Amino acid sequence: MYYPDEVIQEVRERTDIVSLVSGYVSLQKKGSNYFGCCPFHNEKTPSFSVNTKEQFFYCFGCHKGGNAVTFFMEMENLTFPEALKELADRAGVTLPQAELSEQEKRRIEERTRLYDLNKEAARYFYYQLTRTDQGARAREYLKDRGVSEEYMRRFGLGYAGIGRNTLYNYLSSKGYKTEEMEKARLITVRNGKIYDYFFNRLMFPIFNSAGQAIAFGGRVMGSGEPKYLNSPETEVFNKRRNLYAMQFAKKSRRKEALMVEGYMDVLSLHQAGFDNAVASLGTALTQEQALLIKRFYNDIVLIYDSDRAGTQAARRGIPILEQAGLRVRVLRVPDAKDPDEYLKKHSPEDFQALIDNAMNPIDFEMLVLREEHKGGSAEDKVETVKGMAQRLAEIDNDLERQIHIQDTAEKLGVSAEALRKEVEEIRRTTGILDRRPASDNAAQGREEKITARTQLLSILIQDQSLVPIVRKYIEPADLKPPGASEELEVFVRVAQALYRGSEEGRTILAADLISQGADAKDQERITSLLQYPRPESKEDLEKLLSDVIRKVRLDSLEARLEALSSGESTNEDLAAMQGIIIEKRKLQNFMIHIP
Ligand code: GTP
Ligand code: MN
Repeated sequence: MYYPDEVIQEVRERTDIVSLVSGYVSLQKKGSNYFGCCPFHNEKTPSFSVNTKEQFFYCFGCHKGGNAVTFFMEMENLTFPEALKELADRAGVTLPQAELSEQEKRRIEERTRLYDLNKEAARYFYYQLTRTDQGARAREYLKDRGVSEEYMRRFGLGYAGIGRNTLYNYLSSKGYKTEEMEKARLITVRNGKIYDYFFNRLMFPIFNSAGQAIAFGGRVMGSGEPKYLNSPETEVFNKRRNLYAMQFAKKSRRKEALMVEGYMDVLSLHQAGFDNAVASLGTALTQEQALLIKRFYNDIVLIYDSDRAGTQAARRGIPILEQAGLRVRVLRVPDAKDPDEYLKKHSPEDFQALIDNAMNPIDFEMLVLREEHKGGSAEDKVETVKGMAQRLAEIDNDLERQIHIQDTAEKLGVSAEALRKEVEEIRRTTGILDRRPASDNAAQGREEKITARTQLLSILIQDQSLVPIVRKYIEPADLKPPGASEELEVFVRVAQALYRGSEEGRTILAADLISQGADAKDQERITSLLQYPRPESKEDLEKLLSDVIRKVRLDSLEARLEALSSGESTNEDLAAMQGIIIEKRKLQNFMIHIP
């Protein structure tokens, strides 16, 4: 039986742990806490404590700990739902009967219907493309563009017929209601009349990464406006959170993801063996999409059309991808306007060679600046160098900055010394230069690292609804401060337990966490994780969480940077460093938002 976290929380909040425990243990107030002889082990001097502020108990002798519900479970030998039910009754809280609320159930049903509708529509479009006379022209069109029948099927391509109610009539016959079709945005109702949203278009179904059909992109065949018509957003179609062909790309064995602009580019690439290609859905690349890719890849090659719009899109996309922790390279397709066109003229091996030689973001910036100032005059050159100096100034790591300055100076044919002066001047005047206080000694740094992590886990344990937000930025491994002793491995285990609980929709009780400790010292460490109160107000919580996430991320990035800059650095190392530096810079303004 699953209870929503809010309900469990409410029961806990309405139960005064001191009076509950007092029914079993004689408690004495000491400061803001209460002490007594532990009911879980035999003792004469009180080491059993009740923390009133955080409403949990902990025994310093036997290291048992938990909240009101777990205490009651233990004392009365009850299961969790039984204990919860009894305490809820005592506190006058009504527990929901079913596992899900009516509202949640309705929402899930509605979504299921939308997935079914999209699937049914995709099937019908596919049928029209492959089996009807009307579809002949669309088949011809795809053939001309080199799409094989195998890939028509794999991508579920289709054709929306000429009639304006074709799909509507079909779906009605399958028992779907007008209202539902409207919600799926497959039809439009105007002045009481019903129209199919798509007609006479080549259809590209859009799937979520789980492979469920959620929307469509429809292309006119030949010329016509708009060239592509995409489904509007629906309950199941969020443009920011999905990528075209992600359901395939997530299973690819290739090392890096390829991000291209168009649906046709994706299709041609997959057909040429690049099953790692994805595209955004007719909008600019988003942070959510970057994080989606990061779940499956560490590297990405941004492949943009060689026009001005493509170049600007790449420039905007780089920091978004880097912020998600991806190592980015940029590829501008030569000799063609997009990858689809390129593959008509060249082999997949040629394209692979382009990928292998994709630029790092600094070189890409140089290319762009050179094109912006291509006159060849002294002035043009000055502008290019200045632009590069600006970009190089943003590199925080000294070593890395120097290496890139050297490299850039050589490529631009200016003296490295002059460029370095320019860069350092920009850093000085714009305050990028961070002057660390000399007092920043190692021990203090270590303490701070541990404190930040303790705070983070402390908040997460108390409010596990925050786990999904935090896990976007922090991996369990980040919870052990870089270079810290093995003892702090326990922080990683606690984070893992919380993340797993969140995935399974369970709240992990402090008591359960404590029992995860391997020995008494471990358990004490976990108990220490309960010491920081969760801030009351949303603003304070957002601020504190942002601060600690920033600190933890920074530590991890520093550590990675240090590892990369020790020893000889390969070009790949440099690109990686570049990515890290940019990510570090982004962190300065990092703020999370709690919905
Ligand atoms: P082809 O011309 O068939 O090769 O298409 P393409 O896949 O190369 O697309 P193109 O480079 O023209 O556009 C890239 C992407 O931008 C498309 O896949 C669409 O997602 C989107 N797009 C293009 N044209 C339109 C339009 O008119 N409206 C909307 N909403 N999106 C468009
Ligand atoms: Mn194209």
